[in-house]
Amino acid sequence: MACCNQSSGSKCKCIIVLFVIGVLVVFVAVMIAVSLKKLNSDEVGIAYDTVNKALGTDTKREGLHNGPPGFEFIIFPSVFKSLEFSNLECLNKDGVVIQLHVTYQFKARPNNLRDIILSYKDYDGYKKVLTYSGESALHEVCSEFNTSQFQSERGAFQERVRQRIIDKYESLQCEITDLQVNNIARPSEYESAIRSKERAREDIQVALSEHPRLLTEAETAKREAETQAQIIIDKAYSDARILENRAKREAEAIIVQYAKEAEAYSNILSASGLGFTVEGFISYLGTRVIASAKNPVYIGLDSPAKSSYTTS
Ligand SMILES: *[C@@H]1O[C@H](CO)[C@@H](O)[C@H](O)[C@H]1NC(C)=O
Repeated sequence: MACCNQSSGSKCKCIIVLFVIGVLVVFVAVMIAVSLKKLNSDEVGIAYDTVNKALGTDTKREGLHNGPPGFEFIIFPSVFKSLEFSNLECLNKDGVVIQLHVTYQFKARPNNLRDIILSYKDYDGYKKVLTYSGESALHEVCSEFNTSQFQSERGAFQERVRQRIIDKYESLQCEITDLQVNNIARPSEYESAIRSKERAREDIQVALSEHPRLLTEAETAKREAETQAQIIIDKAYSDARILENRAKREAEAIIVQYAKEAEAYSNILSASGLGFTVEGFISYLGTRVIASAKNPVYIGLDSPAKSSYTTS
């Protein structure tokens, strides 16, 4: 600034020089600004010269990088990013619609970033291809499992999905990690059919477990009835024996009574002095029979008895 105090002519020169210096400083600052680009800690990128349309060769990592004026970085994440498929519907081996919820983390291989950019342009284009490819892997694995396997082999299904996505992403230069299959949902009709089947199975179990108890109860009732029947039979036999004995005794008594009567009559008949003839005796017996009868007796008895009473 010392020169500016000397004269008006040199003052004018001074202003021009200062102006030029100023312009130069601004120019250099602008050139530095457009030739320096920063990458964050979670980013990698490859320089792209927008003027000459040339893609750089090296993958750059975190930090400030210089390049040709006007270059920019095509940036990819250097950390795992998550991809989520929620309520993805697919058809399983049985043709039943299955709803899946799958998430995993993915990351492009930094060393292959140039190939990736040449194929898919930028991160958005790349992610789109990864999404379609992942979805297609899910559909493929879905169609390999039948409905009962979705119930019983969830672990195997998840492992198969993981393997298939790894295979598919191999050619996309992408790594995955932390894959999770949550919430495999089958159609509601299928679920309710399964539930009623479970209920029926439980009912069958209950019936089977009650079977021995009911059988025991029935056996007990049967044994009771048999015992009761035996008691009744025994009682009937005993009653019968009592009746039989009584009848025998009565019969014996009657026989004894008749034997005595027979003896008495025989004595009567053999004792000749009494004046009984055989006819008279029979007539006497007839009279006794009629006298002891409770009902009227009609009897056709011949006259020999009568003749002995008449005095002709
Ligand atoms: C499902 O697949 C398994 C294994 O292949 C098989 O054992 C099973 O019978 C299949 N179930 C039905 C319902 O098809």
